[in-house]
Formats: sequence, C-alpha cells, structure tokens
Amino acid sequence: MTEASGIRVRPATRDDAAAITRIYNEGIRGRGATFETRERAVTDVLPWFDDPRFPILVATEGADVVGWAAASTYRARACYAGIAEYSIYVATSHHGRGVGGALMPVFLDALDAAGFWKVLSRLFPENTASRALCARFGFREVGVYEKHGQLDGAWRDVVVVERLLGAARR
Ligand SMILES: CC(C)(COP(=O)(O)OP(=O)(O)OC[C@H]1O[C@@H](n2cnc3c(N)ncnc32)[C@H](O)[C@@H]1OP(=O)(O)O)[C@@H](O)C(=O)NCCC(=O)NCCS
Repeated sequence: MTEASGIRVRPATRDDAAAITRIYNEGIRGRGATFETRERAVTDVLPWFDDPRFPILVATEGADVVGWAAASTYRARACYAGIAEYSIYVATSHHGRGVGGALMPVFLDALDAAGFWKVLSRLFPENTASRALCARFGFREVGVYEKHGQLDGAWRDVVVVERLLGAARR
C-alpha cells in the first residue's frame, strides 16, 4: 500500500467491484477514454478477479474508492503470455489531482512482480492526461493506428503505448 497526499493505493478485492464499475461507467459516458459505449454492471467486473495473474488496484481517499487500474489479456497466444493490456480510470471528481500518478507506479511494480515483460494500451490522441501519465512513467508511443474504430459514428485514431517491464526493461 502506498500513500501520497491522502491517496492510498492497494490491491482491489471483489468488494470494490461496485466502485470500479461506477468509475468505469463515468469514463464510458465521458467518451474520452474508450470505444466502449455499453455501461457495465458489477457482474461484468467481478470476473476480472477470476485470474489472479492480472493485478487490479484501487486508489482510495478515506473510505472512498476514487480510481482503479487493471490488467487483462493482450492476446490468447502463448508467445504473448507476458504482455498485459491495461486500463486506468479515475473518478471524474478526482481528475488532475494525482490519483493516476499514485496508481501507476504501484501498478507497474505489481505487473513486474507478476512476471509480465510488457504492458500496453491504446489511447485516443486527444487524451492528453493519459498521454502525460504514460510519458511520466516511461511508456513509449509506438505509433498511431488510423481509424481504429468508430465512436458514436465517427472514426477515431488511437495512439499505441507500451512500456517494458522486468528483465525486458533492464
Ligand atoms: C487519464 C487519467 C487516468 C489520469 O489520471 P489523473 O489522476 O487525472 O492524472 P494525474 O493528476 O495523476 O496527472 C497525470 C498527468 O496528466 C496531466 N493531466 C492531468 N489532467 C490533465 C488534463 N485535463 N489535461 C492535460 N494534462 C492533464 C498531469 O499534469 C500529469 O502530467 P505530469 O505528470 O506531466 O505532471 C484520468 O484523467 C482518467 O481517469 N481519465 C478518464 C479515463 C481514461 O482516459 N483512462 C485512460 C485510458 S485507459
């Protein structure tokens, strides 16, 4: 567990699923983070906890969960087993207050400890906060996938970001 300006970061449990869902749905509604438009139910989030290899962390302020970071499968192929995708979402009430910056280093350590050699994601180019967070923690912008999907009927590009971990980083 870490603490920075009242924000604590700890491994999530199933009891956090409702808060994780609520924060994820804020991000989905915000349309700045993901192609997803279907809001999630707690029952969509609970299965994330079924594979203990993938870290899920929450940031708390007092008793409140104010952000989360979670890893998931990149590809099913065995050769990619050491690559994780990640998502990070902070409650809109807490954007720009260092919550993402508190989550990310603990999350990277957890991925490292779990034996992953790379973590990656895809970001909308306009997502300046997420790109700044990645830059601060050593992610590389690999390039841009053009028209990678449509959101509300409009083509959107995505920036691919990656960060090496563990022995691959050293
Ligand atoms: C992206 C996100 C996780 C960042 O978390 P955060 O707690 O808001 O960010 P922090 O306060 O820790 O700041 C991280 C960096 O982003 C910058 N930043 C924060 N808000 C910003 C904004 N609105 N515009 C530009 N830069 C911003 C900060 O200055 C900081 O950069 P620095 O390290 O160079 O100083 C958060 O804004 C969020 O949940 N957004 C919606 C979901 C999302 O886009 N997730 C990422 C895709 S999975």
